[in-house]
Amino acid sequence: MTVQISTAAGRDRFVGSAISRVDGPAKVTGLAKYAGEFAAPDLAYGVVVSSAIAKGRIKGIDAAAAEAVPGVIKVITHENRPATSDKPEDYQDAVAPPGAPFQALASDRIVFSGQPVALVVAEDFETARYAASLVRVDYEVTAPQTDIAARTDDSYDPPMKREGIKPPPEPWGDASKAFDAAEIRVSAQYRMADEHHNPMEPHASTVVVEKDGTYTVYDKIQGVTNTHQYIGGAFGLKPEQVRVLNPYLGGGFGSGLRPQYQLFLAMLAARDLGRSVRVTLTRDQMWSFTYRSEAIQTVALGAERSGKLTALKHDAVQGTSTYEDYQEVVVNWSGVLYECDNVALNYSLTKIDTPTPGDMRAPGAVTGVYAIETAMDELAYATGQDPIELRLKNYTDHDQTEDKPFGSKALKDCFRQGAERFGWSRRDPQPRSMREGRELVGWGMATGIWESMMMQSSAQAVLTADGRLEIGNQTGDLGTGTYTILTQIAADTLGLPLDHVTTKLGDTKLAQAPVAGGSWTAASSGTAVMKACRDIAEQAFKLARGLENSPLANVDFERVVFSNGRIEVTGDPSKSIALTDVLKASRTEKLEATGEAAPDKDFGEQYNAYTHSAIFAEVKIDEELGVVRCTRVVSAIAAGKIINLKTARSQILGGIVMGIGSALHEESMLDHRIGRFMNHNLGEYHVPVHADIPDIDVIFVDEEDKANPLGVKGLGEIGIVGVAAAISNAVFHATGKRIRHLPITIDKIVAEG
Ligand code: MOS
Repeated sequence: MTVQISTAAGRDRFVGSAISRVDGPAKVTGLAKYAGEFAAPDLAYGVVVSSAIAKGRIKGIDAAAAEAVPGVIKVITHENRPATSDKPEDYQDAVAPPGAPFQALASDRIVFSGQPVALVVAEDFETARYAASLVRVDYEVTAPQTDIAARTDDSYDPPMKREGIKPPPEPWGDASKAFDAAEIRVSAQYRMADEHHNPMEPHASTVVVEKDGTYTVYDKIQGVTNTHQYIGGAFGLKPEQVRVLNPYLGGGFGSGLRPQYQLFLAMLAARDLGRSVRVTLTRDQMWSFTYRSEAIQTVALGAERSGKLTALKHDAVQGTSTYEDYQEVVVNWSGVLYECDNVALNYSLTKIDTPTPGDMRAPGAVTGVYAIETAMDELAYATGQDPIELRLKNYTDHDQTEDKPFGSKALKDCFRQGAERFGWSRRDPQPRSMREGRELVGWGMATGIWESMMMQSSAQAVLTADGRLEIGNQTGDLGTGTYTILTQIAADTLGLPLDHVTTKLGDTKLAQAPVAGGSWTAASSGTAVMKACRDIAEQAFKLARGLENSPLANVDFERVVFSNGRIEVTGDPSKSIALTDVLKASRTEKLEATGEAAPDKDFGEQYNAYTHSAIFAEVKIDEELGVVRCTRVVSAIAAGKIINLKTARSQILGGIVMGIGSALHEESMLDHRIGRFMNHNLGEYHVPVHADIPDIDVIFVDEEDKANPLGVKGLGEIGIVGVAAAISNAVFHATGKRIRHLPITIDKIVAEG
C-alpha cells in the first residue's frame, strides 16, 4: 500500500511501516509490570468472598473461623465496613451508564451471583484465600430472573440515555407498510450468547499507602483518569491525594473501561487498615462483573426482485442489570449500512438479575451487525443475488440516519480486494455444492462497520539536550500497540531515531487523556503527540535560526525538514544543524510542549466517520459429526491511514479470532433457576485456541480521511465486526441450514430442522 503522512515537519520513516512493539522486550522479559504485580513494603492481600446466590439478602455472616486463622488481619463485610460516600453519583465513572453504580459491601442486598460479600485481608495471599473459604454466609433467597427471552414483554425504552451512545434514529418512510407490500420478504429472529471478555490478565488493584498518607494506586483500567475520578468520588479524596498508574494491561477488550469492585475493596481496606492492600480477582470471578449481554433481535427486510431494499426493520431487546441502564448501539448500524426509503429501528432494554453488562470490543456493532448481515445473506438467497452484488445494489455514500455523507468510505475497495484475495468468483452459490472428502465446504461473507471517533486528549513532550525525547499521556495501552505508534509519530515529527524516543502512558501525573476505548486512541493521543512534537520542532527551529551564523538564517519553518536528528533545509542538506547542537549552542537544557487534540467540529458538522470491512470466511463441516471448523478468513479493512502495518494487522487478527469465538465457541451459560453463569472458567467457556484459528489474511485498503491530521480512523474494534455473520453465512452455504443462534455448535448443526 502507499503511505503518506502528515506528521508535519518530519519525513516519514517509521509511520506507515511495520515496526515491532517498542514495549515488546519489556513484556517478554517480565520487566513490564501489571496492576497486581507492584510491590509495597507492608503489602496485605485481600481475597473476595463471592455470593452464592443471585438475588436476596444476607441473613448473617460468620467470619469467626476466618478471623481465627493466624495471619488474617480483618474480614470486611457490609456489617463492619467503613463508610464511603452515600451519594450514588459519586460512584459514577466516566463511562458509567445511567443508574446507581454497584457498591461492594454496601448492604445485605444481593443483586447478582458472584457479588462480593466479604473481603478477607491477610498477611499473605494464601492465608487470605484459605480464610476466605471459611467464611460462612447465610442467605435468604429470592428467585432470580436472568432469562431475557422471558422478559421481552417487560422491555422499555431507557428513560435516560447513556452519554456518547446514540439512540436509534427516528424512523423514516413506513417500514411496516413497505414490508407488507414488498415482492421479496425475509424476516427472522437472531440470537447470540452472553460473552465475557476474558483478557489474559484478570482484574487486580494494588493500593499503596505512602508515608505522607497519599495513595498510589495500580489498577487494571483502560485509562487511569477514570480510576482517579472514581476514587475521588467514592472516598471523598482530593485529586492530589491519589496517583493512579497502569503502565501495562494484559488485554482489556472493554472489561477495563470502568473501575471494578476489586479496586473499591482494595481502597476500602487500605483506608481502613492504614496499610497497602492488593486485591486480585480469580478467573472465575471474572464472570462476576461486565459482559456482552445478548440482545434478542428481529430483522425484517423487504426488497424488489432485483434486490433493492424497500423496507428495513431491526428491533433489539437487550439485557441490563436491575440497577443500571447499560446501553450500546445495536440497531443503528443497519440504517447506516444500506440505502432504504423505509426504515424503522428499535432498541429497548429489559432488566435481569446479573451484573451490569458493559462494553466489549465493538459493543453493539458485534451484536447488531451479526443480525443485519445474516439477514442480508438470507435476502441474497431469496432474491438469487450474489451477496456482494446485493450489498452493492444497496450501497450508500450517505449516512441516512443523520443525513450526512461519509468523510471517507472505501468499502467497495474492501469488497473488490477481499473477494479477489479469497477467490470469491469461484464460489458456487448453491448450498451444499462444495465438498472436500467427508466435509462440506461453505463460503460466506459480510460487511463490518464501526464508528470512527476522536476524543479530547493532550500529550506532553520533552526534548533534552542529549537529543532524547520523552512523550506521554494518561491513556492506556491495552496491548494494542499504543506505545509503539505514539513513538513512531513522535520520532517522525522530530526526525529522531525510534530508540531516542521514550513513551510513557498510564499515569495520572502525565498529560490528560481519556480511557482507551472506542478505537479512538490512535486518532486522539496520536494527534496530541504529533502536535506536542510539532510545537517542539517549531521551538527548536526558532532557536536554530537565532544562532550566530545559523545555516537556517532567513529560512521559513515550512522550508525545513526534521530528519536524522537534524533540522535541514528542504532540498539542500548542506544547510542543516543537529538538534543537539541547537540546544547546546543556545544553552537550552530542554524544550517542553503540550499538544492538545480535539475532534474537528467543522468536519463533524459536515461528515460522519466510520471504518468498514469486508470479511470472507470459509468453513468445513464434517457432515456426519457436525464438527465445524473455520478454515480461512480474509478481511479487507478500510480504516484510513495505517500507522503501523504490524500492530494494525495484529489488531485485526485479534478481532477476527474473537469473531470466530462469537461464531463458534464463546457462550456464557446462565442457569436461570439460580441466575448464575455456570461455565465460569476457561475449560468450559471456550475461547478459540491456536488449533481453532485458520489462515487469516488481512488487507488494508487505501483510504484517505480528513477527520484528523493523521488521517487515522481507529482499528481496535473493526476487526471483529461482521466476522460472526460471515462465518454463519458460510455455515448456511455449506449445509443449507440457517442457524440463527450463536455460537454455531455441533448440536445445532446436527439438530433436525
Ligand atoms: Mo472498547 S469495548 O471501547 O475497550
